[in-house]
Amino acid sequence: MAAVKGLIQGTLRSRRLLQLGRYVTAGVASLSSSATSPEEKLKDRQTQVMARGLPKQKPICGVKHVLVVASGKGGVGKSTTAVNLALGFAASEHVKSVGLLDADVYGPSIPRMMNLKGNPEVTSNNLMIPLVNYGIRCMSMGFLVEETAPIVWRGLMVMSAIERLLRQVDWGELDYLVIDMPPGTGDVQLSISQNIPISGAVIVSTPQDIALLDARRGAEMFQKVNVPVLGLVQNMSVFRCPKCNHETHIFGEDGARQLAVSMGLDILGDIPLHISIRETCDMGKPVVVSAPESREAMAYVSIAKEIMKRISEDGAAK
Ligand SMILES: Nc1ncnc2c1ncn2[C@@H]1O[C@H](COP(=O)(O)OP(=O)(O)O)[C@@H](O)[C@H]1O
Ligand SMILES: [Mg+2]
Repeated sequence: MAAVKGLIQGTLRSRRLLQLGRYVTAGVASLSSSATSPEEKLKDRQTQVMARGLPKQKPICGVKHVLVVASGKGGVGKSTTAVNLALGFAASEHVKSVGLLDADVYGPSIPRMMNLKGNPEVTSNNLMIPLVNYGIRCMSMGFLVEETAPIVWRGLMVMSAIERLLRQVDWGELDYLVIDMPPGTGDVQLSISQNIPISGAVIVSTPQDIALLDARRGAEMFQKVNVPVLGLVQNMSVFRCPKCNHETHIFGEDGARQLAVSMGLDILGDIPLHISIRETCDMGKPVVVSAPESREAMAYVSIAKEIMKRISEDGAAK
């Protein structure tokens, strides 16, 4: 509860973040499409100039790589992907420790998906200690408020909550910190991108037109704030009937692939639409730990490997 009190008392420090919020809100308008007209170009330039005045990025102590899992749209499978990718990283023999940060303060999913609840303990220097399951250190707003409590924070409180989730957690040494982003391209996404150095963003989309539009927006936002977009994950691209093995492309077949091509990005992998993916997450035993040999788990593990490869290549190139 000390953590919750801390959250509520943190408004003063958040003025700086509010200011940041105003800057970025102004910026967001120009992020929704590629600039073509002179007005759009001017707006783009203004965003870049404003970004120069923003606070300097500060790494999270002990964390080697931060990876954000994002999309402009809700319900496309960001949290499911974030959780299974974190477990995919942890399955690698080269990885010692992985953290998972639920940045969706309005609709936190990580407590349920990782079967965790309870209040984090606080260290003597006032840092929250992550809760751990399946070897993954997790932090979520869901640990600080009751699941049924209405989340009424707006503006200031949300930014203050994010700042605390980023800075006031005792992560220890982490090879990877996976951040499960809320939907959209708003203040939270921008402030995270601009407060901490991010090794890469993974954009999740279904192959459906409407989801793709939002995915494009999401990818463009990260590109504009110089976060490397590692690629797209095409989620729910194929449904295989468990009875007859017939394959159906419920949300379309290759939409995300086409979007990736048009943006000069790669597809990191495809995840099928499968009942076990949904059920295992709902039960708090994600498929990568509960059925590691399954096709579905393998799909996540292969994407996790691809991401690690890309991040280490990037690091080597610097
Ligand atoms: N590949 C998949 N197959 C089956 N169900 C999925 C798949 N990906 C996500 N889901 C389900 O879709 C719903 C939304 O997923 P979620 O990860 O919460 O999306 P988001 O974080 O983007 O809002 C959840 O019920 C989840 O279990
Ligand atoms: Mg989510």
